[in-house]
Amino acid sequence: MTRTRGTITRMDDVVQRVIDRVTEAAARHDATQENRLDRWRVLEPDAGRFLWFLAQTVGARNIVEIGTSRGVSTLWLADAARASGGRVISYDTDPDAQRDAARTIEEAGLQAFVELRLGDGGEGLATLGDGAVDLLFLDSERPEYPSWWPHPVRVLRSGGVLVADNALSHPDEIAPLHDLLLSDLTAVTTIPVGKGELVALRG
Ligand SMILES: C[S@@+](CC[C@H](N)C(=O)[O-])C[C@H]1O[C@@H](n2cnc3c(N)ncnc32)[C@H](O)[C@@H]1O
Repeated sequence: MTRTRGTITRMDDVVQRVIDRVTEAAARHDATQENRLDRWRVLEPDAGRFLWFLAQTVGARNIVEIGTSRGVSTLWLADAARASGGRVISYDTDPDAQRDAARTIEEAGLQAFVELRLGDGGEGLATLGDGAVDLLFLDSERPEYPSWWPHPVRVLRSGGVLVADNALSHPDEIAPLHDLLLSDLTAVTTIPVGKGELVALRG
């Protein structure tokens, strides 16, 4: 599909096929793993589509993700970034996961729109400039998020959005993040797609 920068587009068919394949592979893999941390835990399709829609709605060009895993959410975000002429920086501490994600992103033809960074997302956020990020997606270990303050909000531009997964599946773990966001930002809400997406807008 030919794309023009800065236009809102349909989801690319090739990207969608790769997302579907990895999502199905993740379901098979995760079903065999007893330890939660050994599961890939990829984003649910409806939450991915919501993220893709939101990224295009805010015209997100500078997108940051914490928690690449096998790259499913990265693909949703990168397809939106291609439409807006932007790119995704995605952090993960697991080198095997990022190696797999790199292959998947290349298969989807999105490598020009993604920079994978191996390392701690909180430390990564601390290195980013004030207002440098249009959309920040948090999908790693939820209890760590408050320890990253003030960077998750500091890096957002005015009109930028923060999204955190698992707002409905793990409300107790998301509650401290929710409280911090409510005290710092204009609008905070939870969208009931996937495992629940906590969304906060910087005014
Ligand atoms: C739920 S999975 C991410 C799923 C991914 N967003 C997707 O849709 O495919 C969580 C990932 O966060 C990574 N992670 C955990 N703590 C992290 C941290 N402090 N910084 C960066 N990544 C981290 C894990 O290695 C794991 O791959």
